[in-house]
Amino acid sequence: MIVTDSPIKKSVLLGITGGIAAYKAAEFARLLIQDGFEVQTVMTEAACHFLGPATLQALTGKPVYARLWDEAVNNSMAHIELSRATDVILVAPASADFIAKIAHGLADDLLSTLCLARNCPLMVAPAMNRQMLENPATQRNLTILQKDHITVLGPAYGIQACGETGMGRMLEPQALLEAVRNFFQPGLLQGKRVLITAGPTFEAIDAVRGIINLSSGKMGYALTQAALEAGAEVTLISGPVCLTSPVVKKLIPITNANDMFTAVKNEVTFNDIFISVAAVADYRPAIAHTQKIKKSDNTMVLELVPNPDILQYVANLPAPPFCVGFAAETEDIDQNAESKRRKKKLPLLVANLAQEAMGTDDSTLILFDEKGKHTLPKAAKIDQARHLIEHIATLYQQYPN
Ligand code: C5P
Repeated sequence: MIVTDSPIKKSVLLGITGGIAAYKAAEFARLLIQDGFEVQTVMTEAACHFLGPATLQALTGKPVYARLWDEAVNNSMAHIELSRATDVILVAPASADFIAKIAHGLADDLLSTLCLARNCPLMVAPAMNRQMLENPATQRNLTILQKDHITVLGPAYGIQACGETGMGRMLEPQALLEAVRNFFQPGLLQGKRVLITAGPTFEAIDAVRGIINLSSGKMGYALTQAALEAGAEVTLISGPVCLTSPVVKKLIPITNANDMFTAVKNEVTFNDIFISVAAVADYRPAIAHTQKIKKSDNTMVLELVPNPDILQYVANLPAPPFCVGFAAETEDIDQNAESKRRKKKLPLLVANLAQEAMGTDDSTLILFDEKGKHTLPKAAKIDQARHLIEHIATLYQQYPN
C-alpha cells in the first residue's frame, strides 16, 4: 500500500513521458512541492532517456516508478495502488504517442495503465513538434480526450526544440502550477470570460514616427495573471510592450487605437467582464504618411483627430459586460476619476497617480464604485492586481446580468 506522508496534503501524480520538455517537469515538480503538494512521479521508459529519475526522487522525496511490475509496490499492482493514492493525475509533458494511447484506452506501460485504471481526474500538457500536433490523427485524439473529460492544458506557441516555431510547446511550469491550484480551489472567476486591453496604442505620423502614451503594460499584464489565477478564461488585447504574456486563451497584438477598437468589437460579446487598462491615445494624426516626412526648418503643424473611446462604446452597449476602467490622473484624482466613471457609465473605475505608477513595479490604487471610494495602499502591481480581481469578482456577483 502506498501511504501519503500527510493526509491533509493534496496529492498530484506527475506522469512524465518522453520528450525534450521533460526537463521542465523537474521544475514543475519543484514548484508543486514548494506550494505544499505531495508529488508522486511516474515516468515512461522514454522519459527516463531525457531526465534521470534520481532528479525527481530528490525533488519530491519519493521513489519514482517506471515499470508496470515494480516489486517495490506491495501487491505488485502499482497501476491500481498509485492511481488510488492521488487526487489528480497530471501528465507533463504528454507526447503525441501517449495522447494517442489515452484516447484509445491502450495500456502497455505503468503510466498508461494507471491512467486507464484511475478514479480521479486526469490532465495532460501536450508537448510536441508543431506538425505532429497539426496532424489530423493528433487533433482527433485531442478531441477524444476532451470528450472524455480529460483536461488538456495548452500547448503554447513558440520556438521548439527542433528549431521550428509554432504551436506545440509545453506550458511553462508556473502555468501548470496554476492549473493545479485552480483544480483544487476553483477561483473567484472560475469559468468567467474576461477581456483585457493593456499597454499603449501607437498612432503613426509617418513610416518611422508616431504618438504614444507612456505605458509599460505592467498593470494590464499583472491583471491578466491575476484573472488567470482566479480561474478566468482571458483574452488579452495588447499594444506594443516589452513583456511576455501569461498563457491566455487568446492574445491579440495590436498597434493603434482603431485596431484595438476592431479587436474589442470582435471579442466583447463573448465576454463577461471587460477590463480596459490600456492607455489608449486620445488622438491620432489625421494622415499617417507612408513615407518618412523630410525634416525642414519650418514649423510643422500636425492635424489630430479624436480616436474612438473604446471603453465608452462597450459600456454603452445594450447588454454590456461588467466594465472596469482605469484612469491615470496627474491631479484632483477623486474628482476627475468619479466624474469619468459617471460619464462612461462604469460600475468600477480604478485610478492612480500617473507620476507615481508609470513604468514602476508598484503603485497605489484608488477604486471608485457605486459604494464610494476604497484605497489599495502602495504595493507590488501583481498584489494590487490580485486584490482588484477579488473586488471585481465581488461586484460582478451583484451586477445585474
Ligand atoms: O483616457 P481616459 O482617462 O479617458 O481613460 C479612461 C479609461 O478609458 C481607461 O480605462 C482607458 O483604457 C479607456 N479609454 C478607451 N478609449 C480611449 C480612451 C480611453 O477605452 N480612446
